[in-house]
Amino acid sequence: MKKFLAILASTLMAVSLIGCGTDTSAGEPAATAEPEAPAAQEPAAAASTDNDLSSKKVGVCIYQFSDNFMTLFRTELENYLISLGFSKDNITIADGANDQATQTNQIQNFITDGVDVLIINPVNSSSASTITDMVVDAKIPLVYINREPDADEEARWQSENWDVTYVGCDARQSGTMQGQIIADLGLDAIDFNGNGAVDYIMIEGDPENVDAQYRTEFSVKALEDAGLKVNCLSDQVGNWDQTQGQQLVANALGQYANDVEVVFCNNDAMALGALQAINDAGRTVGKDIYLVGVDALTEVCEDVLAGTITGTVFNDHIAQSHSAADAAVNYLTGAGNDHYIGCDYVKVTKDNAQSILDSLG
Ligand code: GAL
Repeated sequence: MKKFLAILASTLMAVSLIGCGTDTSAGEPAATAEPEAPAAQEPAAAASTDNDLSSKKVGVCIYQFSDNFMTLFRTELENYLISLGFSKDNITIADGANDQATQTNQIQNFITDGVDVLIINPVNSSSASTITDMVVDAKIPLVYINREPDADEEARWQSENWDVTYVGCDARQSGTMQGQIIADLGLDAIDFNGNGAVDYIMIEGDPENVDAQYRTEFSVKALEDAGLKVNCLSDQVGNWDQTQGQQLVANALGQYANDVEVVFCNNDAMALGALQAINDAGRTVGKDIYLVGVDALTEVCEDVLAGTITGTVFNDHIAQSHSAADAAVNYLTGAGNDHYIGCDYVKVTKDNAQSILDSLG
């Protein structure tokens, strides 16, 4: 019953965030770094422990393999773990197929197999306390990635002094950067219908995920902080998915037509879908509509350079996957970790898209 109430409460919270009346009062805006190339990576932490690492077993749980961004993340994570000295045969990566019960089962199997460390991208961040309890009981160090557990859960790791940490970026920063990319264009350039406001549609990722909640909230807040009036025409959930993004934007353009001046997408996959819908509707990004995403997928950086997407925000999967692997090593060597390991987003516009592309290799 308690579990049911907790699920109900988190569902209600998620549902209340959908819709145009987003509350922008909670939380402080994150730092607003200017466009720049990503910082150089720290050298690998454990060159001297290569021999030991080759026998260590790593279990990795990814919430869903079909997610574009998490595909980049897991590929980089595996390659970097191998470069640190882990054996490919000892790294097992499981696809949670966007189902928490499936993932919980996979975690149980990793525990039974006796893995030495776990790296987990939870399907539901709200299941983190259950996951942590299972893993800590089995005395296995745990590195959460990408989907941040809530503050109460992170406080527990600290107060219990458990070998549990989170590696990720502050999603408020990415939302703020999206809003700034649009605000920097100036109202005159944006206000095609001349009503004195920025008329936008919002395409959200999975609302259980704090990245979706904060990007939605802080992109709009950045417009307001820049002194712009905003008008939300439509706010829909596209679950990080390109096809859903395309359908939702096609519907909104059908309904609101030329009144849509800006399309905010919580990630680039949905922005690519939005671009398709914009083109199909005979609209032109940069001329009669603007479009922003988050992640800096290669295809989107190329679109930003070409002017077919207004901008994106680099979600540094290289820095995050390396930090996650380094944190795993630090647990294995006994060095330990802080309970939160952060990373900065980078604003991506035409000015720096090429340097971001170059850094992606
Ligand atoms: C976000 C990313 C999205 C999606 C999501 C999954 O950080 O921007 O594209 O991968 O994580 O939780």
